[in-house]
Amino acid sequence: MTELNQIALKIISKGKGILAADESNGTMTKRLESVNLTSNPENRQFFRETLFSSECMKDCIGGVILYDETINQTSSFGKSIPELISSSGAIPGIKVDTGAKKLANSAEENITEGLDGLRDRLKKYYELGARFTKWRGVYKISKIYPSKLAIHTNAHALARYAALVQENKMVPIIEPELLMDGDHSADFCFNRTSEVLKKCFEELIIHQIDLTGIILKPNMILPGNKSKNSISIEEISKKTIECLKNSVPQEVPGIAFLSGGQSEIEATENLNMINKNNDTNFIMTYSYGRALQQSALKIWSKNTQDKDLTQKTFNHRARMCSLAAQGKWSNELENK
Ligand code: 13P
Repeated sequence: MTELNQIALKIISKGKGILAADESNGTMTKRLESVNLTSNPENRQFFRETLFSSECMKDCIGGVILYDETINQTSSFGKSIPELISSSGAIPGIKVDTGAKKLANSAEENITEGLDGLRDRLKKYYELGARFTKWRGVYKISKIYPSKLAIHTNAHALARYAALVQENKMVPIIEPELLMDGDHSADFCFNRTSEVLKKCFEELIIHQIDLTGIILKPNMILPGNKSKNSISIEEISKKTIECLKNSVPQEVPGIAFLSGGQSEIEATENLNMINKNNDTNFIMTYSYGRALQQSALKIWSKNTQDKDLTQKTFNHRARMCSLAAQGKWSNELENK
């Protein structure tokens, strides 16, 4: 077993998943302002360190993805943020892309940037304690999108990123996210996701990536958020598993889904059914941002001094996700 494979497994095994707390300052400002809070470095740190010092960090969270501002902060307990995360047994990670920018020669699509100077930034993040990283490629779905150009360029960037990350002894999370926006069917999402994933792995293989030392972070197979046709949880799970079976090489140790705009409950019950039906060797878990933090943020915004209630809310959500990662979640446990 290679060192990278060991890190990947430590993050996602035993019902653990990933807390994606890597919102850029722009995104975090939107989240905080939506609950009438001011976004400043102190508030961003205080909310995040409240989560990172919660009880569930020991059993339910294998890794935390941080943003550049956060990985450089010192918690009010005196430990650096990466030390605080490590002290619970979880592994600190870092988002290293610099965001999605307009893709030249495509009217409406984006390409993710951040390769320039990446090698040097990775060395700095390793010294700060990061042992895994994230890069998100983002794809629109419609009759004409994602275009061949977006599929090709984003896969190429993801592979170049992954090679630099493994060179620096960290595990790259490969995140190709097909957005939920649109009125497309789940089958349309299935076909476009398969195409995107296959191209990503084609490029990862060309770039000689050790596939046992990555974590894939895909979207689930869902109908668009404006689709009129609803689909059962059972169907979502079957289509998601089928798509991954057909597109992801066997060597990949695990898959950690993004929540992508699903509610906390939807993201939990879909993951649970995926695990009930999982007949692959892939570990299937969560790497949720909104679906782990939404309720905790709402509670925190009502009284930012009430650390206990915020942590209680986060502990519950993380425990439910952890049960779902083992196919052991139920409505009863959710409402207990
Ligand atoms: P969501 O779970 O809120 O989609 O965030 C996951 C993530 O890291 C997106 O890049």
